[in-house]
Amino acid sequence: MARPKVFVSRRIPEVGLQAIAAECDVEVWPEPLPPPADELLRRVRDCDGLVSLLTDRIDGTLLDAAPRLKVVSNYAVGFNNVDVAACTQRGVCVGNTPGVLTDATADLAVTLLLAAARRIGEGQADARSGKWKTWEPLGWLGQDLVGRTLGIVGMGRIGFATAKRLHHGWGMKVLYTDQVPNALAEKELSAQRVDFDDLLAQSDFVSVHVDLNPTTYRMFGAAQFQKMKRTAVFVNTARGPLVDQAALAHALRTGTIFAAGLDVTDPEPLPPDHELYQLPNCLIVPHIASATVETRNAMARLCANNLLAGVRGEPLPHWVNPEVAEKRRQ
Ligand code: DGY
Repeated sequence: MARPKVFVSRRIPEVGLQAIAAECDVEVWPEPLPPPADELLRRVRDCDGLVSLLTDRIDGTLLDAAPRLKVVSNYAVGFNNVDVAACTQRGVCVGNTPGVLTDATADLAVTLLLAAARRIGEGQADARSGKWKTWEPLGWLGQDLVGRTLGIVGMGRIGFATAKRLHHGWGMKVLYTDQVPNALAEKELSAQRVDFDDLLAQSDFVSVHVDLNPTTYRMFGAAQFQKMKRTAVFVNTARGPLVDQAALAHALRTGTIFAAGLDVTDPEPLPPDHELYQLPNCLIVPHIASATVETRNAMARLCANNLLAGVRGEPLPHWVNPEVAEKRRQ
């Protein structure tokens, strides 16, 4: 029997590629930048499986050009780049990589929160540029963490892991919003579920952990920043389009909030002349929350397992659209 054909839209860790190559004929996009849309479409035309990244748009047009495609295995926990309804409609399975990147992402959320609160980006820039002239009693003053209030927007796995670190490590009181109560967070972290507006008004630190969908798009705009404390620190490790960046820039420039730490932006990358880069109280890193060796390897293993299950016609270990089971492409 012919081996399944698979396209991998960027080089992922070897452990994942080797697992796929053991059963499939694999083509890997060799460039450091993502394949342009028309090139991706050309490459998947006769493929049974696709390993996609969050930089690839997987939509009906691409799926229609690839009639043999059985599975899209997204190398990410987020899947806002995939039109899941279009996949389900066409009998194509979608997989993602939850769980394995929870700790790394929570670690980065805490890193950004601490770094923004203590003005690390600004301090480093000033030290390097010679603006650091002496020890300054009133220089580079930041915000304390101990005993302050943390607002978690989206108490899923990553929100919980972030809150756990800050509650147990710094004794923070935890407020959260979510569509459903999180009993574990309420029991283990004494977390309180509150309205979004209450969370904004009462929190010293606001960390975002919701997925991007039409209801969460731009959920942070001028009105939301206006409701936050002037000392508040805002952290986003979820998705850039959750935030109206012009409103964020205005809030940071005018002192409406104290600082922001962003792992994600809209677009990615932000153009180098973007206003947010000019603001000393805005710390930006290039979407690196899951970027540890162990985490990226674990994501590659999970991604390969999803892909292989998809081409074999088995249930995906992490299946975004299990409802497709009845009518999946054979
Ligand atoms: C994800 O997995 O969704 C992250 O944004 C990248 O690891």
